[in-house]
Amino acid sequence: MSKIVVLDFGGQYKELIARRVRSLNVYSEVHPGRISADELKTMNPDGIILTGGPNSVYLPDSQTCDPGIFGLGVPVLGICYGMQLMVHTLGGKVAPGEVSEFGVVDCEFRGTNRKVLMSHGDRVFALPEGFRVLGSTKDCPIAACENVTAKLYAVQFHPEVTHTERGIEIIQDFLFNVCKITPDYYLDDVIDTLCEQIRGQVGGDRVLLGLSGGVDSSVVAALLSKAIPSQTLCVFVDHGLMRLNEGDQIESVFSKRDLEFARVNAETRFLSKLTGVTDPESKRKIIGEEFARVFEDVAKSRGNTEDYFLAQGTIYPDVIESGDSKTGGADVIKSHHNVGGLPKDLKFKGLVEPLRGLFKDEVRALGRKLGLPPELVERQPFPGPGLGIRVIGDITKDKLDVLRKADAIFRESIDGIPFEERPAQYFAVLTDLRAVGVTGDARSYGNVLALRAVYTDDFMTCRYVPLTHELLNGVSQRITNEIRSIGRVVYDITDKPPATLEWE
Ligand code: XMP
Repeated sequence: MSKIVVLDFGGQYKELIARRVRSLNVYSEVHPGRISADELKTMNPDGIILTGGPNSVYLPDSQTCDPGIFGLGVPVLGICYGMQLMVHTLGGKVAPGEVSEFGVVDCEFRGTNRKVLMSHGDRVFALPEGFRVLGSTKDCPIAACENVTAKLYAVQFHPEVTHTERGIEIIQDFLFNVCKITPDYYLDDVIDTLCEQIRGQVGGDRVLLGLSGGVDSSVVAALLSKAIPSQTLCVFVDHGLMRLNEGDQIESVFSKRDLEFARVNAETRFLSKLTGVTDPESKRKIIGEEFARVFEDVAKSRGNTEDYFLAQGTIYPDVIESGDSKTGGADVIKSHHNVGGLPKDLKFKGLVEPLRGLFKDEVRALGRKLGLPPELVERQPFPGPGLGIRVIGDITKDKLDVLRKADAIFRESIDGIPFEERPAQYFAVLTDLRAVGVTGDARSYGNVLALRAVYTDDFMTCRYVPLTHELLNGVSQRITNEIRSIGRVVYDITDKPPATLEWE
C-alpha cells in the first residue's frame, strides 16, 4: 500500500491532514517530527507532509527536523510551520512578520485568486537556493514555494481545512502528480485487516467491550462480533449521566442483537464520586477511572479480570485531543475520558482499540459496511463523560434531571429539520449562572441554560449554526414554561476555534 507520513511539529490539524489524505484513498500515518531520516526511510513513504506548529523555527528550543529528510528523494510538502522549517533548514530566512495573519485572507496562488486560512506570526523572508515563489498574500509575499528538482513544496496557509478554497486540490496535486501515487486505501480491506489484528491480539481469550451506544463503540461491537463472535461480552454502563430515556433505548437496541449484552446501573456509584467536583479535567478523569473500575468488577464477577481484554471505541481524534505522547507536541486541550482517564493500574490483560487509527467519517463508513442501522451510524456524537461535562460546576441528580428535560426539548425541535440540513451536534448546557426574571407577578431567580448547535465534519473545527429566531424562541418558551428552575435561555454563537464544542 502507498503511504504518506505526516510529521507532527505540534500542529492542531495534524490528524486532519492525515484524514484528508485518506479521504483520497491514500493511507497516511502521523509520526513525531523529531524522527530521524534513517527511521523514516525504513517506513518507505511515498511522500512526507510537515505539519504546522506553535513555535518559531529560529528559537533554540523549537522543534526541528532531521535535515536528511529533504535529501531522501521522497517528495515533501511543508504546511505553515512545516514550510518555515523547510525554508529555515535549507538556508532560507524566517523571521517575525510585520503583522500576523490569523484567519481567512485572499491569496494569489499559481495565478489564481483564492481564500485561504492563515495562522502565523512569523513568515518567510528569503527562499533557499533552487526554490521559487508560488503564492502571496497582502502581508505575506512568500506564501507558497517549490523546488521542483528536489520535489520540495510548501504553503504558509492550511490546505487541509475547509476554510481554504480548493485546499484539497493542493493535497491531491501533491499525492497524485508529485508523489505519483495510485490510490489503494479502501475500507473493505481495512475491515479484514482490523479483524485479523483483533484475532492476532486476543487469541482465544475473552473481550469485554465498554458499549456506550454511540457510533464508535457500536462499530467496535460489530467488528468484534465479526472477528471473535463467541468471545465478546458487551457491557453498557448507565452512569446516570445519559440523556433522557437513552439507557433504555440502548438496552432495547443491543439486547436484541446477536451478542452477549449486560447493562449495569451505576448512577449512585458515579454521582457519589463526582460530589462537589467542579473542575472539568477532574470530572473527566474520575468518570474515566470509574468506567474502568465498573468494567473490572463485571469481569471479576464472571471469572478473573486478568483473563479479559478491555475493548473501547477510542478513535483518532480522541487520541489527538488528549495530546497523545506518541505524536508529541500538540497542547492538551481536553483529556478525552477514554484516553486520558484510564487508570494506570488497569487489571485487564490488555486494551483492544481497533478504531484508534480511524477518523469519525471512516468509522461511520465502516459501520455502514458492517450492516449497522442508519439511525445508529448517523447518531450525533455524545461524549463519554455525558452530561457530567454539560452541567457546569458541581453535578447533582436534580441538575441532571433539569438538563435532561431541557436537552430533550431542544433536540426534539432540531430533529424536525431535514437530515441533510441538521447540525452535526446539538445539545443544551446547564450553566452555573443564575439570572433574575419575572414570572406572573413574582420575582424569579432561575438558572441560565445555554443551547449549542454546530456544523462540522471533523469535530476539530466547527461553526455555530444560525438557527432561526423562530425556532430558538419556540425552544426558549417551551423550556422556561415547562421547567420552572430555568429562568433564561441563551444561544452559543462561538465557532471552534476559539471555543471547543463542549463547554467543559
Ligand atoms: P471538543 O469539546 O473537544 O469536542 O471540541 C469535540 C468532540 O468530542 C466530543 N468530546 C468527547 N468525547 N469523551 C468523548 O468520548 C470526552 O471526554 C469528550 N469531550 C468532548 C464532543 O462531544 C465533540 O463531538
